[in-house]
Amino acid sequence: MTTLALKVTPNADGFGAEIRSVDLSRPLPPGVLHDVKAAFAAHGVVWFPDQPLTHDQLEAFTLQLGAFGWDPYVKPMEDRPHILEVRRDADETASVFGGTWHSDWSFQETPPAITILHAKIVPPVGGDTLYADGVRAWEALSPTFQAMIAPLRSVHSAAGPYGSKGFYAQEKGRTGMTILPSVEAEKAYTHPLVRTHPVTGRKALFVNPVYTVGIEGMTEAEGKALLAFLFKHMTDERFVYRHRWAANMLTMWDNRCCLHNATGGYDGHTRVMHRTTVAGDAPRP
Ligand code: SIN
Repeated sequence: MTTLALKVTPNADGFGAEIRSVDLSRPLPPGVLHDVKAAFAAHGVVWFPDQPLTHDQLEAFTLQLGAFGWDPYVKPMEDRPHILEVRRDADETASVFGGTWHSDWSFQETPPAITILHAKIVPPVGGDTLYADGVRAWEALSPTFQAMIAPLRSVHSAAGPYGSKGFYAQEKGRTGMTILPSVEAEKAYTHPLVRTHPVTGRKALFVNPVYTVGIEGMTEAEGKALLAFLFKHMTDERFVYRHRWAANMLTMWDNRCCLHNATGGYDGHTRVMHRTTVAGDAPRP
């Protein structure tokens, strides 16, 4: 199945890779799709420069990777229920959407496997996205610490950002996007703290500071202390890749094994991205 068509250029540490010599606007031949999936499994984050895509083409590319995920609490584009416009206007005073380390919708019973972001308007300064490799973060822990945390389950909830009294319900000054806070967001799910990737079989830490609110069976103070250690460890610069965007670049990341964090630094400029997700399965230890 493998083709020699793709040009894959990984980062030096293997986390993140650029892919060229492929046209995402058309259905990918089976061998090329196979190789894109293989590069994605190997590198966790992949980006494709110079891919002008219509909404239909973005949706069609997404569906080659799997069914659409469920994207709650953000109003989608008109007539495009599966595309979110991640937009911040030049004169906007609201926070940067996605501007804290997280894994998308990790509070869902089956969080999305993949997020795809297509750059439409990229500011001349700032607006990078940071990615953190949860696999190497796991592998860097001592065997003793790994054995201690491997059986744990963590509690995930969207109440903090999207609850009826959460961050977005209180925030003012957002013009580029419509956030839809809800009591639904106050539900919680538990997931294994260490997750085995269904494709690669590799283990990764699966907690994040936006949605992970505690550890099952621990007191609040114990859970917070352990999570604070893990959040700091996972986002250590050894495991982080800073991604610089260009218009028409499509980037996709694996929510099962990495965190991401949208940076600001572009006040006075507009930034517009179109985002889809691919459904995932229930995390397993
Ligand atoms: C997100 O968290 O999906 C937004 C990422 C970005 O805008 O760079």
